[in-house]
Amino acid sequence: MTTIHDVAKRAGVAPITVSRVINNTGYISPETRQIVNEAIAELGYVPNVLARSLRSKRTNTIALVLTDITNPFFTIMARGVEDTASDAGFNVIFCNTDESEDKEKKYIQLLLQKQVDGILLVPAKSTSKSVDYILEQETPVVVLDRRVSNNLVDVVRCDSEGGAYQLVKLLLDLGHRRIVMLNGSVDVSTSEDRLSGYKRAMQEAGAQAEELFYYGTFTQASGYELARQAMAQTPRPTAIFAANNLIAIGALWALQDMGLKVPEEIAVVSFDDLPQNLVAYPFLTVATQPAYEMSKKATELLIARLNGKVAENDCQSIILPVELITRTSSGKTVS
Ligand code: RIB
Repeated sequence: MTTIHDVAKRAGVAPITVSRVINNTGYISPETRQIVNEAIAELGYVPNVLARSLRSKRTNTIALVLTDITNPFFTIMARGVEDTASDAGFNVIFCNTDESEDKEKKYIQLLLQKQVDGILLVPAKSTSKSVDYILEQETPVVVLDRRVSNNLVDVVRCDSEGGAYQLVKLLLDLGHRRIVMLNGSVDVSTSEDRLSGYKRAMQEAGAQAEELFYYGTFTQASGYELARQAMAQTPRPTAIFAANNLIAIGALWALQDMGLKVPEEIAVVSFDDLPQNLVAYPFLTVATQPAYEMSKKATELLIARLNGKVAENDCQSIILPVELITRTSSGKTVS
C-alpha cells in the first residue's frame, strides 16, 4: 500500500507538504502542487482514513461510475443522478468503465484521491472488490443496477429475474418453444438473474433450454454475432430473448441481413426499452426498467448516508419492478 512518505519521496518534498496538498491547507506553490499531484497519480496513492478525517471540508461532489455511457439506459440513469444531486446541492462526476474492472479500479482510485463525498457504482463484475475498497476508505457508496458479493452495502436495482420470466412466458404463451436467449457477460448479476428467469419460464412449460442460451457482452456487436450463431441451429429457433436493448438491436440487424422477417419468421423480445423520443415507430416488445427512478432513489440514499442520516450497517436492498410492454416484435399466436 502506497503511503504519504512514498509520495513525499517521489516528489522530493516533506510529508507535511503532501498532506497540505491533499487537504488543500497552507500555502503550496503551483509548481510544488503539480509535482505532488503527479507523484500521487503515478503511485496511485489514496489518502488513508486519517488523512481524510483531517480534510478541511466536503467537496460537495459525488460520482456515478457506470459501464456504458452509449447505452440509453445509462444515459437516463445519469440524468436521474444529476437532477437529484444538483437539487441537493451536489456536483456530479461521471465515469465510464466499458464493463472493464481495470478501468473501474482506476476511476475509483482517482475519485478517492479527489475526495468525492460519495460514489454511485454500477459494478463491471459481480465479483468486483471496488465496494470493499471504497468502504475501507470510509467513503459512502451505493451499488446501482447490479448486485455484488459484498452484502454490507446499499443496492438499488430492478427485478431482472421477474422481468425475464414475464418476457419468456409471453413467448411461450404464444406457442414458441425453441426460444434462444442472447445474454450479456457471465459474471454480471443482470445476466445471471435474467438467465434464471428465462430458465424458470422454460422449465415451467417443459421446454428444453440447455442448448438455447448464449453468453456474450451487453453490446450491439455481440447481439449481431450471437443471433447469427443461434439462427444456424437446426431446427431453427422461432424466438429470441435479448438480455438488453443493445443486444436486441444487434440481433435485429443480423436477422435483417439473414433475410428473416420479424415477427413473421422470428419473434424478438428484449430487456430495456429504447427512449421513445428517439424511436419513430415503437416496435420492440420489452421489459422496461425505471432507470430514472432507480437512480433517483440511489442518489437520495447516498446523500442521506453521507449526511449521517442512515446507520452505517443499516444497508438496504431495493428492487424495483419492471414493466412489460407488448409490441409488434413478439408477433401473434404461432400455430
Ligand atoms: O441495457 C442496460 C441493462 O443491461 C442494465 O440492466 C445493465 O446491467 C445490462 O444488464
